Amino acid sequence: MQNKAAMISTVIEKPMLETLKGRITPRVPLWLMRQAGRYLPEYRALRAEAGSFLNLCYNPSMAAEITLQPLRRYDFDAAILFSDILVIPHALGQSLAFVEGEGPQLPPLEKLSDIDRLDIAGFESRLAPVYQTIDILKRELPADKTLIGFAGAPWTVACYMLHGRGGGSFARAKEMALADSKGFQEFLLKLSDVTARYLISQIRHGADTVQLFDSWAGLVPDACFEDWVIAPTKRIIDQVRAAAPDVPVIGFPRQAGAHYAAYAAETGIAALGLDPQADIASMPRHVCLQGNLDPEKLLAGGDTMRRAVLDILAAAEGRPFVFNLGHGVIKETPPEHVAELVGIVRSWQRAT
Ligand code: CP3
Repeated sequence: MQNKAAMISTVIEKPMLETLKGRITPRVPLWLMRQAGRYLPEYRALRAEAGSFLNLCYNPSMAAEITLQPLRRYDFDAAILFSDILVIPHALGQSLAFVEGEGPQLPPLEKLSDIDRLDIAGFESRLAPVYQTIDILKRELPADKTLIGFAGAPWTVACYMLHGRGGGSFARAKEMALADSKGFQEFLLKLSDVTARYLISQIRHGADTVQLFDSWAGLVPDACFEDWVIAPTKRIIDQVRAAAPDVPVIGFPRQAGAHYAAYAAETGIAALGLDPQADIASMPRHVCLQGNLDPEKLLAGGDTMRRAVLDILAAAEGRPFVFNLGHGVIKETPPEHVAELVGIVRSWQRAT
């Protein structure tokens, strides 16, 4: 009996996880950033029931349900934990509100050294509901689906902690960073260590892979890219690898432009998330690639979308590639367009 069980378990594969590890699978794995979210009526219904976005994030059964909603509709290969990158500052004791129509708002830290006044000791217990969400998902997700955990990369999270809200160019964060580069480096390294602990806990609870969202990497001055983006990311990946050597990490340094190659070469990421501007053909070949479809094409649907999807699949053919958008699903996107997109990717055949 034991042998039979072992045989069966080797048959069950997760195409997305295999691809992240560098294999080319017959099926091009597919998921979408923000696949759970406001474009889905069932999300909006649960969101209204929860009252606030943060209530949703910290309610394990609701967060697990929202994570699974898109997989009930679409043939996706992965579920991404439903949460937010800003639970880290929140769990460190910085207050956070998601204001309707305005996005997240935090009282900005007054000075860089205020990070030392945050509650690093209490942060794991505040994040316990996130780990409970993963426990539920681990039980409920079919064996061929990959469970993605995530965190914001230190620079992007620092933007919110120091500037207080999104929109614009996070001028205050940048000013504070440039005015005290040594202090800012320490700030980022502290945030890196907390982020690594958070990701390792997600992995211990069952995340198959983790993605680091560096949504605002494109705002970093060229001369600072190494210190603000690459070094903190490498520090996180070194720690995750030491704790979980087989778990691939996806890095998404959005709008990193010419820095994509150095990021891939130096951080130790297994897969590189591509924004819509990135050119697949000129990306480094030692990593898996993910993304690139402009969310506006998904919003448009029809032939515009079909052509863009086929161009991407052709450009990525012959290399490990995870189909995804170059940023999150736009909330006005008709759910039927997502169904159409999945159909196009699923019916596409690899060149033989
Ligand atoms: O489906 C998924 O991708 C998983 C869940 C997820 C959310 N946010 C849910 C969410 C993930 C991975 C994130 C990451 C995130 N959060 C990022 C990085 C990716 C990116 O979009 O660049 C950033 C910068 C944030 C911070 C954040 N959270 C902002 C700026 C906003 C407001 C703007 C917006 O898009 O609404 C949020 C809110 C948020 N996070 C929503 C969702 C579904 C909308 C909340 C609502 O229901 O009102």
